[in-house]
Formats: sequence, C-alpha cells, structure tokens
Amino acid sequence: MTEPLYLQRFTLRQRLEHVAVMTLFTLLCVTGLPQKFYDYQISQWLLDLMGGVDSARWLHRACGLTFAAFTAYHLGTLVWSVLNGTATFSIVPHRKDFSDAILQVRYYLGLTDRQPKFDRFDYRQKFEYWGLIFGALIVISTGLVLLWPVTVARFLPGEIIPASKVAHSYEGLMAFLVVIVWHIYNAHFNPDVFPFDKTIFTGKISMERMHHEHPLELERVVPHSTSAPGPSGHSA
Ligand code: HEM
Repeated sequence: MTEPLYLQRFTLRQRLEHVAVMTLFTLLCVTGLPQKFYDYQISQWLLDLMGGVDSARWLHRACGLTFAAFTAYHLGTLVWSVLNGTATFSIVPHRKDFSDAILQVRYYLGLTDRQPKFDRFDYRQKFEYWGLIFGALIVISTGLVLLWPVTVARFLPGEIIPASKVAHSYEGLMAFLVVIVWHIYNAHFNPDVFPFDKTIFTGKISMERMHHEHPLELERVVPHSTSAPGPSGHSA
C-alpha cells in the first residue's frame, strides 16, 4: 500500500483557536504596549491611529475580555477531555523532555552524534504551550484587577493594584518579546521550516517532516513507515 505524503496534524478547531490567539495577542500588544511606552514616536503614531489613548484603552479592555473568554473556553475543554477520558496528555511535560533538552544541547555543542527523537510534541513546543497558558493566567488575573480596582480593593489589600500594574505590563512585554524572538524563529527562520511553517494553518504535515521531527509519533500512527526522509529543506 502506498503511504500518504501528508498526515493530518491539527484539527480545524485547533487551527481556529490558533488564529484567534494570534489575532487577539497582536491586538493586545498593539493596544497595550503603546500605553506603557507612550513617549516613543511609534506609540504616539499607533495611539493616533486608534483615535487617541481613550479608544486604545477601550479596545485593549474589549480584546482582554475576549482573550479571557477564549482562555476559559480552552481550559474548560481541556478539563472536560480529562474528565471524559478523551485527553491524550501528549502536551504534558515528562522526564524524557528534560533528557531530550540536555541531549539536544550536547548535540549542538558537538559533544555527541545522537539527536533526541520526539513524539507528538518536543520539549520546546511543550515549553511554549505551558508558557502561554501560565502567562495568559497572569495577564488575565492582573488585567481583571486593573479593570475593577475598587471592587478588588474591597476584598484584598490595596497594594495588589500597583503590584498588578507592574506584573501585567512586564508579563505582557515578556510575552511580546518571547513571541518575537522564539516563536517567530520556530515558525519562520528555523531551517526545517524556512520561510514559513504552514502546518498550523493547513493542519497538514509532510511525512518527511514527521520522520525528521516526530519519529516516535510516526512509528505509532504509521507503523514501519517506509517513506525515506529527504536530505534537507523540509516542507510543510
Ligand atoms: C498578552 C496580552 C496583553 C498584553 C501584551 C497587555 C499589555 C498591557 C500593557 C503594556 C498595559 C499598560 C500598563 C502600563 O501602563 O504600564 C496594559 C494595561 C491594561 N491591560 Fe493589558 N495586556 C494584555 C492582556 C490583557 C488582558 C487579558 C486584560 C483583561 C482581562 C487586560 C487589561 C488591561 C487593563 C484594564 C489595563 C489598564 C489600562 C486601562 O485602564 O485601560 N490586558 N496592558
């Protein structure tokens, strides 16, 4: 039997969730960061484009609440899949991820010829996913404090409001930098996918990339796969 050239990696729902996060995150950065760095020329230009700081604030709040609703939906479906026994736990970190990371660094340093073999998600993908989840929980909780400071101060010490402002803006800035440096590298500049990894948009991944990037998963879904990995220049 001839093997398929591509495998389905992401469902339509996962792809739509990625588009939603990407759009909301960009809007949150564009409306939030100019408030923090208001004395930069680009911030003034962006604030003018949005009709001034007041409308930028309202846009940021609306996007923030939508982002919070999306995160609640994502975590809700996650908990539901664990409860009804359909969760695969493929994104949960385990011991092998730590040894994979060490082996990968040793390989990059030329100390070994062996490279780690990954399953559905490698340690970098898991780190990015959980970083996004924990980062989202921080910006959402502190964002809600900034949105309703008087109500929050009725139940919690007032110091929580300036502390939330600092945590919110620095966590937002860090998330922005992580996405610019790390995520853009993985999605665009990584030689395996250059110039652009289309998998999260099309849902499909080539057998060649599966051989190269997720051999343990490939062995499970297509046992004894025969299609040979190409020499280089893996395409989505
Ligand atoms: C990754 C996403 C986010 C980024 C990058 C971000 C960034 C920022 C930044 C840089 C500020 C300015 C803080 C300062 O003046 O020092 C800010 C303010 C604020 N953010 Fe966010 N934020 C994000 C998500 C959220 C979310 C999810 C919410 C709501 C649930 C939210 C609600 C607010 C509020 C209420 C303010 C205060 C400004 C105002 O009153 O309009 N943000 N944000």
